[in-house]
Amino acid sequence: MADVKADPKKLHIKTYGCQMNVYDSERMAEAMGAEGYVLTDSPEGADMVLLNTCHIREKASEKLYSDLGRLRAFKEINPDLKIGVAGCVAQAEGAEIQRRMPLVDMVVGPQSYHRLPAMVRAADRGEKTVDTDFPAEDKFDHLPDRPSANTRPTAFLTVQEGCDKFCAFCVVPYTRGAEVSRPVERILTEAGKLVAKGVREVTLLGQNVNGYHGAAEGGTWGLAQLVRALARIEGLERIRYTTSHPNDMAEDLIAAHGEEPKLMPYLHLPVQSGSDKILKAMNRKHTAEEYLRLIERIRAARPDMLLSGDFIVGFPGETDEDHRATLDLIEAVGYGMAYSFKYSARPGTPAADRAPVDGAVADARLQELQALITRQQREVQQGMVGREVGVLIEKQGRMPGQWTGKSDYLHAVHITAPELRPGQLVRARITESGPNSLAGVLI
Ligand code: SAH
Ligand code: SF4
Ligand code: F3S
Repeated sequence: MADVKADPKKLHIKTYGCQMNVYDSERMAEAMGAEGYVLTDSPEGADMVLLNTCHIREKASEKLYSDLGRLRAFKEINPDLKIGVAGCVAQAEGAEIQRRMPLVDMVVGPQSYHRLPAMVRAADRGEKTVDTDFPAEDKFDHLPDRPSANTRPTAFLTVQEGCDKFCAFCVVPYTRGAEVSRPVERILTEAGKLVAKGVREVTLLGQNVNGYHGAAEGGTWGLAQLVRALARIEGLERIRYTTSHPNDMAEDLIAAHGEEPKLMPYLHLPVQSGSDKILKAMNRKHTAEEYLRLIERIRAARPDMLLSGDFIVGFPGETDEDHRATLDLIEAVGYGMAYSFKYSARPGTPAADRAPVDGAVADARLQELQALITRQQREVQQGMVGREVGVLIEKQGRMPGQWTGKSDYLHAVHITAPELRPGQLVRARITESGPNSLAGVLI
């Protein structure tokens, strides 16, 4: 075998889907780094390509197959090229992927990433492997402890994985499995290491992150306790978390938003629909009114909280009246940001066999909903003008002397001040609101 130092192998990772996949891709890069692989931006000239996939909607899933089709040419040029499929499509489709696309060497589900190095060695011997087990051990226990140099001031940190909610449309409980929380000590240790490397802001990740219940000395901690412990780490300036379910928004977590200054005033709290009939059919287990009352309690604790949400239009059975109820809920909340999707029937989920809403009707509803969201987003952004906000500087902007960072409310903010550096947390006054960002001046 070649000397790895003289001739490092090149690994290209393409990441689809949610932030957890971004986090997992970084961890896989680190695990493969220990095997002598370095990252490369393109599949061209790579020794291994890893596609970290998303199964959430049909379009996301199908992307895998078009990308694999494109990789065929690379494998013809370099027959030694190893191709791996990871993530939620890997979990959902397993060996079927290799039947459909024989060029795939490895299929590895999200709970088996610690076995990736062994699978790559098997591929070196010409063996194809599939691993979609849900092993009893914590995959993070077996992955190396983040030796890679993260040069950004922000980082993701997975604290919880999987989901027990079983919303009728969603594949996540099947692809990510049951809810598992990482122990408190491991999270605090990882956060400490990130801070030592210059990270100033962590976003705690979990499919149902506010359902966090991790083992701690003397019992089990919820997310609020974890946040308060993280806030005591010196040098860690900002804490965020995503994604939360309304039914797990505990009182102590709401209280923490009012009491813990490092906990940022931005909350992603998907509701999916504003119609009680549809919420019930979705198995969301709360009403629109309960959601609105929850938002009131959150805003009582933190009046400036910026809310973001997710919406699905065209869920089976959705009438014009149901759609109107969703628009009414959006009007009532006033979102600073929201993601909206046309319902996509996913194999194996309870809603998959229900009669679909006409596609053109769903398209029209999506457009109407998105127009409303865009308007609210603009209004919230416009309302920032004249206000003083914290901005964590991340990188240089496009203009000379300009820097870009994120406000407390997660808006991109451009500031012209050549002396700034990444990782600096500054106070700025917002002077202007553009389509996708704000401009500010240092105070
Ligand atoms: N844990 C996250 C789930 C991520 S899925 C959460 O609870 O928010 C992100 C969003 O994708 C969901 O909130 C939902 O709005 C959307 N989504 C999930 N399944 C979908 C489907 N089958 N069709 C359309 N959108 C879907
Ligand atoms: Fe999917 Fe619902 Fe769980 Fe979110 S809460 S991951 S939408 S099942
Ligand atoms: Fe997609 Fe899996 Fe995330 S389905 S949204 S990559 S949890």
